[in-house]
Amino acid sequence: MLVPLRSKVRSGERTLAQVRVLIRDGLGSAQMAGSDVMRWVLREVRDEDLPLLFEQWTDPIAGRMAAFTTPDQADWNAFERRWSRLRADESVITRAIVVDGEVTGTIGSWGDPGEREVTYWIGRSYWGKGIATGALSAFLAVDPSRPLHARVAYDNVASRRVLEKCGFHFIATERGFAQARSAEIEEQVLRLEP
Ligand SMILES: CC(C)(COP(=O)(O)OP(=O)(O)OC[C@H]1O[C@@H](n2cnc3c(N)ncnc32)[C@H](O)[C@@H]1OP(=O)(O)O)[C@@H](O)C(=O)NCCC(=O)NCCS
Repeated sequence: MLVPLRSKVRSGERTLAQVRVLIRDGLGSAQMAGSDVMRWVLREVRDEDLPLLFEQWTDPIAGRMAAFTTPDQADWNAFERRWSRLRADESVITRAIVVDGEVTGTIGSWGDPGEREVTYWIGRSYWGKGIATGALSAFLAVDPSRPLHARVAYDNVASRRVLEKCGFHFIATERGFAQARSAEIEEQVLRLEP
């Protein structure tokens, strides 16, 4: 059963990227001059979030953008099992990104110290509002490990921009098989220094 996305973030003109963001352990609020406050929080992922996250995760346009997806991307049982594994693994941090009460996506990190990587996924109806940028800024306080790394498909300009706005810089290019493109493509590695 899939839960449909509800309405878009209210007041679509507001973007977190352009606003003053107050961060305290993943809790925040943001406000553009003269506008309402957009309230947001990074919280633990709950069972009831999974149908909506699955819908975001299986969006073919988002998948093509992320490129490095899994062979079982469209398999609900595999998705549920993956989330059970992730949530049971103490070295993995995952958070739902909740904006004005709506789950807009997820952000997380994993890996050994010195090699930890961060990743995020925003539902398409919420793109372009600064949510990934705001969530990553806040997440950097939730996971204070440094360095932190991120990998983006060579043409995922939006994701690279999000990373650069949060202080990551390009360090390397690698090649890998991109499931969503059925091809080997270039991947860029970015790093946030200690
Ligand atoms: C990539 C993604 C996380 C961006 O989320 P978002 O909430 O829309 O991002 P933001 O609004 O915070 O910022 C996007 C930035 O990229 C810019 N951007 C978007 N498309 C762009 C393009 N084609 N060329 C140049 N810049 C672009 C935006 O203008 C914005 O920068 P700005 O604030 O300087 O104007 C989202 O599209 C997504 O989840 N995609 C699918 C999954 C994915 O790719 N995850 C990342 C895997 S590495």
